[in-house]
Amino acid sequence: MHIPANKSLVNKHILLGVTGSIAAYKAAELVRRLRESGAEVRVVLSAGGAEFVTPLTFQALSGNPVHSELLDTEAEAAMGHIELARWADAVVIAPASANVIARLTQGRADDLLAAVCLATEAPVAVAPAMNQQMWANAATQDNLQQLRARGVHPFGPTEGGQACGETGPGRMLEAADIVRRTAELFDTGALAGLRVLITAGPTQEAIDPVRYLSNRSSGRMGYAVAQAAAEAGAHVTLVSGPTALATPPRVERIDVRSAEEMHAAVLGRATDADIFIASAAVADYRPAAPSEQKIKKTTDTLSLELVRNPDILAEVAALPGGPFTVGFAAETANLLEYARDKLARKDLDMIAANRVGGGLGFEAEENALSVIDANGVTELTQAPKAQLARRLTALIAEHFRRRSECFL
Ligand code: C5P
Repeated sequence: MHIPANKSLVNKHILLGVTGSIAAYKAAELVRRLRESGAEVRVVLSAGGAEFVTPLTFQALSGNPVHSELLDTEAEAAMGHIELARWADAVVIAPASANVIARLTQGRADDLLAAVCLATEAPVAVAPAMNQQMWANAATQDNLQQLRARGVHPFGPTEGGQACGETGPGRMLEAADIVRRTAELFDTGALAGLRVLITAGPTQEAIDPVRYLSNRSSGRMGYAVAQAAAEAGAHVTLVSGPTALATPPRVERIDVRSAEEMHAAVLGRATDADIFIASAAVADYRPAAPSEQKIKKTTDTLSLELVRNPDILAEVAALPGGPFTVGFAAETANLLEYARDKLARKDLDMIAANRVGGGLGFEAEENALSVIDANGVTELTQAPKAQLARRLTALIAEHFRRRSECFL
């Protein structure tokens, strides 16, 4: 499916490193383009970069404070190098001077940008910009080769006229190309060609025409998984309870309100799916007989009779030849024990358990997951939900392929 260019980085945190090269002025345009593509941008400006463009320019364009100091107590208290490293979905250094390329190769940690690059789990890309002789120098070429071997992505450079008056390779890629290459970092292809069905959000169970029973689920984790699965190349159908979230790019969304509506929407599609991920917080009970009229407050007490809702996940897991099933277990206590029990009782392929409360879970920006299957537990440590969703998606892809290979 085609993603509109202006939406290719929706919900992404891009940490842009700007270093000492005349091409630093082009980084200002890059910040604008990244934001137009939907990314949130934070700029780390090296001492060399600050010689070319002021922090104020990047602050105004990114809408965030600019980060430059490694050992400044105030700056570290606001957002330190480890937090920046964790915040980033990708680190893009543009322009990348010969100096920063050499420093990354050595694994230095003596300025903020180098320290963030060492500390991050996110992909790192460099867009070199330098004089053609500096680019051609064996030292730079060796450095690049080492960085590439370590998984750093080189973006460019291209050839052409240079600020110094020479012509040759060493020109930084244009901003639009850097944005496109950055978006491609997330297209892993791990689920290419597969159909993934996902539930997300809360359900609302009607009491009368204006009232309902529901829960605190924001839907964020499920939407993040839907986005990550689409980026991994899957055809994604998201069956969503009521949320305030925008549909991720390339995701087909079906809106439902109640557990019964979600049940019908999922069971109608489950046999076509390769993978089913149940992240919705489905209400376990619904009012037995919702009132057709608004209930009046005429009595001191009011009792509601509730009946059990269907267990959507358990039903999908029981389908003969059904999809690979992944459940979630949100618990306030005895996390692993309850999750293991759910894995066995519902006959799931995998379960992702998260502790709710204490700043984690439903309404929080970050989460941590213990992912359990027949072979054991994988811990996905605390991270923003979008990153966690990508790690979970990679794990699901790996386990799905392994199970499929067993059946060959
Ligand atoms: O049993 P429990 O509700 O804790 O199980 C949680 C898992 O089961 C989640 O993956 C949730 O989406 C799914 N579920 C469901 N239908 C229900 C209840 C839970 O699909 N009625």
